[in-house]
This record gives sequence, C-alpha cells and structure tokens, in this order.
Amino acid sequence: MIGIEKYNEAIQKYLDETLILKEPIQLYRPIQYIISLGGKRLRPILTLMTCDFFKTDYKRALPAALAIELFHNFSLIHDDIMDQAPMRRGMETVHHKWDLNTGILSGDAMLILAYQLFEVYNSSMFQDLAKLFSKTALQVCEGQRYDVDFETRNNVTIPDYIKMIDYKTAVLLGAAVKMGAIVAEASDKCKENSYEFGRNLGIAFQLQDDYLDAFGDSESFGKQIGGDIIANKKTFLYLVTLQNSSKRETDELIKLFSETPKDPKNKIKTVLSIYKNAGAVESTINEIEKYTNKANIILQEINISEDDKKTLGTFGKNLMNRTV
Ligand code: IPE
Ligand code: IPE
Ligand code: MG
Ligand code: MG
Ligand code: MG
Repeated sequence: MIGIEKYNEAIQKYLDETLILKEPIQLYRPIQYIISLGGKRLRPILTLMTCDFFKTDYKRALPAALAIELFHNFSLIHDDIMDQAPMRRGMETVHHKWDLNTGILSGDAMLILAYQLFEVYNSSMFQDLAKLFSKTALQVCEGQRYDVDFETRNNVTIPDYIKMIDYKTAVLLGAAVKMGAIVAEASDKCKENSYEFGRNLGIAFQLQDDYLDAFGDSESFGKQIGGDIIANKKTFLYLVTLQNSSKRETDELIKLFSETPKDPKNKIKTVLSIYKNAGAVESTINEIEKYTNKANIILQEINISEDDKKTLGTFGKNLMNRTV
C-alpha cells in the first residue's frame, strides 16, 4: 500500500540495530528467525502512522512500535505451541524447527526485550506506555486462556467469542494505535479514540483470520488451513452455524467437534461444507464489515487531517480484503 514503505523501512532498520545475535545463540537465533520471517508488521506500522498523523516525528515512536511487534511475535511462538501449529509465515514454527523448550524460553526473552525498549522514554511517557502494555499483555493471556477453554466447552455464545477475540487480539491493535498517540502527546480524548479505532479493527481482523484459517489458501496465508477445525476452536463460523442450521447438521457439527481424529482430512471437509450450507461465510463477512465500519466511525472523531483519516481508513478496509 502506498505510503507505508517508509514505516516498513524504518522498522526494519531499527530492528537490525536492536536485535543483535549473541550468546547463547540458541536463545537469540529463534528470535531472529521468527522476526526475519517478517509478517505484515501491521501493529508497528499503525503505531508509527498514528504518531506521524499527530504531527510528531514518527521515529520517536520506533521503540514503542518494536515493543509491540516483539510482544506480538512472542505471543505467536507460544500460541503455536498451544495450537500445535506446524507452519507460520510459510515456514516451520519455532517449536517444530527446534523444540518446546526453545519456543518457551526464546518467547519469554522476547517479552522482556519488549519491555526494555520503553526505557528510552522519559519517566511520565514510560509510565503511560508501560501501564498500557502491562494491561494489554495480561488481557492477551486472558484471551488465550478463554480460547483454549472454549475448545472443550459446548456452551460458548457469540458474545463470549467476541470477548475472547477482543482480549487475545483486538486490544493489542488498540494499544498499537494508542501508543502512537501517547508518543505524540495527543489529547486524552484522541488517545481513547485511537485505542477504540484499533480495537474494533482488531475484532474485524481476528474474524478475518478465522475465516482464512478455514477457507484461505495456505500458500498465501502462510499457515496450515483447517488448524482451527482440527483444534475444535469455537470460531464465529462455528457458532453462527450452530445458530443457523437444522438439528441434524447441528448435531453432526457438535459431534465432529468432540473428536480429534488422527487423520483430520474428512473432518475438515465435512465441517467446511456444513459451514457453507449454513451461510456462515456471508455472516462472517457481514460481521467483519460491521466492526470495520465501527472503527471508521470512531476514526472520524480523531483530531487528524482528513487525508490522514482516509489513509488510516483505507488501511483498515484493505485488512478486510486480505488473503495473507
Ligand atoms: C496473527 O497475526 C495472529 C492473529 C492475531 C490473528 P498477523 O496476521 O498480524 O501475523 P503476521 O505478523 O502478519 O505474521
Ligand atoms: C492468535 O490467535 C492470538 C494470539 C497469538 C495472541 P490464532 O491462534 O488464531 O492466531 P494464528 O491463526 O495462529 O496466527
Ligand atoms: Mg494459532
Ligand atoms: Mg491460538
Ligand atoms: Mg488463527
């Protein structure tokens, strides 16, 4: 997308200066590995862009932006252990390439490195950033716990699901945008609106992630397709299907989600066809649109130029149509 290259370049340069490979190599190499696989770097881009749009040198927001990206990558390493995922960003996951202990410890180190990055800010800004970061990181743990608990629960509601994805994913996007506003010393109202903009975008983003996990293409998505079905994840697709289907299909789906076959091919195929028949794809797309629109309405309240609102709005809309 036009205009994000300068942020991407700044992030890469800052990463190269900051993440130095040192002893013990087995601690730092997996960190370099996952970071070098890149990913979309949405969260740090949002931090830099927001700071820039509040008319402050975006480079001042680099440590905060990188802290968010390191935290995100830490959460991915641990998430892949929890989800038993073999593939990430088109390559082997850290615990597959090395082992569980490597994934756990290198992940832990990334979390500490993320915190350390806030040390460059003056004490009042440090406090604001660290406070937001701690609150967000704890919510991510809570969301991840709900996500795992839901695998074996049969009474998950759509509001339960929305709360779970709000915590595991959306609050981090909210924090990414708000940190840009904090570094730019925007007004309290603008900081709050920035947070809510990112958070609503984050809910749409996770809905889209769940959709792509079922119906995406593993080549472009970079992850195993059907992973959520294998793990009996109670996604929006699943929950809306239970709401919209006949008793026969509902019973079948519940039964399939109580089993963990060795070869999951047939399970995935059947579940996808039940989802399709129930119109779950259309419902998910509508839900994605609903949260993207909510984000856009909040965006209009933020005190930045109309052009910059358009750029952020387009950034959000593009997320809706992504395949990666
Ligand atoms: C993956 O996030 C985890 C979710 C919250 C869905 P991204 O899709 O932003 O992952 P990368 O960083 O681009 O690989
Ligand atoms: C990701 O949820 C949330 C966090 C990593 C905290 P998912 O489990 O859906 O993410 P992917 O699909 O593995 O990237
Ligand atoms: Mg996962
Ligand atoms: Mg997960
Ligand atoms: Mg997913």
